[in-house]
Amino acid sequence: TYSELKIDDPETKLNLEKAAKILTTTSEVVGFPTETVYGLGAPSKSSDSVRSIYKAKNRPLDNPLITHISSLDQLYRKVLSNGASIPKQYESLIEKFWPGPLTILLPVPETPNGTESTISKLVTANQPTFAVRMPSHPVARALIAISDTPLAAPSANASTRPSPTQASHVLHDLKGKIPLILDGGSCDVGLESTVVDGLCDPPMLLRPGGVSLEDLKTYGGEFWSRVVVAKRTAGKLEPVRTPGMKYRHYSPIAKVYLFLQCGDGVEKLNQFIVQNELKGKRIALLRSKHFKSASEISASITVDRELGTTGDNIQRHLFAMLREVDELGVDVIFVEGVDNDHEGLAIMNRLQKAAYQTVRG
Ligand code: TXA
Ligand code: MG
Repeated sequence: TYSELKIDDPETKLNLEKAAKILTTTSEVVGFPTETVYGLGAPSKSSDSVRSIYKAKNRPLDNPLITHISSLDQLYRKVLSNGASIPKQYESLIEKFWPGPLTILLPVPETPNGTESTISKLVTANQPTFAVRMPSHPVARALIAISDTPLAAPSANASTRPSPTQASHVLHDLKGKIPLILDGGSCDVGLESTVVDGLCDPPMLLRPGGVSLEDLKTYGGEFWSRVVVAKRTAGKLEPVRTPGMKYRHYSPIAKVYLFLQCGDGVEKLNQFIVQNELKGKRIALLRSKHFKSASEISASITVDRELGTTGDNIQRHLFAMLREVDELGVDVIFVEGVDNDHEGLAIMNRLQKAAYQTVRG
């Protein structure tokens, strides 16, 4: 079943309770909206449930999951129940960015003899740390609070596909594999949370996302002003430190070509179409600030979409547009790159992972 949920309507509570019941009484998983992208949730402490996440997504088992909490109180009660505290280097970030699109790493709490672990090893992929965030979306918060259990949740796409920013995207990828999707409309941020590791010094930005590098440095105090951006590739045998380091990610079916510093696009795109014998192929153009419209560039480009000109707009629409033009059955997608600062860092990170090839002007 696929249920529509609007936060103020009378069905809301019923649907939330239905979802909470699935989560707490079965090992099935539920799709739900967050402010970043849709998540596929299951109680973090239940290995059986978490296994269902990997199965539904067809996700490699060595790529760890983020645990979602509805309050700090819940984090202390349900995860850090052995009395561990949150390291103080995170205080400024938590104060400023929670609830919101920031994920932090914490040490996995030790389990005294005979007690059950509060986080399944399947969530952490056996690493000594776990990732946690407090989402700001009211449906996510309500679901986690009503279930009264922290939820492990990756993005609710099939593995390697662009993350879902609408309930219909989840349905498209996971139909028949999950019993329920809570529909909270389009996600506001549009790409995933920023993942940081403050357990090392200097601290690391593992995945750029909804909170910018500049904001981490501005609001995090002296410690976070020294944050280092993690390198992008991990070898086959290294543990996965950040998503997409070793896996193909965010990929539409059509080949994506990412164009950097190509001015208004006219000269470079025409040259590229000829050199790569793309005349007669179905080409989509996703453009931002500088590219001319498709009709002004080449008659070979038949689908023309504006990603937007500001970072938050591009961020919000990027995954939805990649999916949309893919659905139209184009052969290739040309995307105009953006500057690497502010929202641009996360946008370019996702585009580079989606891209079959990067073309420079
Ligand atoms: O915005 C988001 O973060 C969304 C929504 C649903 O909250 N979730 C999300 O989850 O993007 P996912 O699984 O697609 O990406 C989580 C990434 C993992 O790929 C992993 O590399 C990183 O977070 N991660 C999780 N646990 C980690 C750990 N212990 N150490 C390092 N990285 C970790
Ligand atoms: Mg993902």
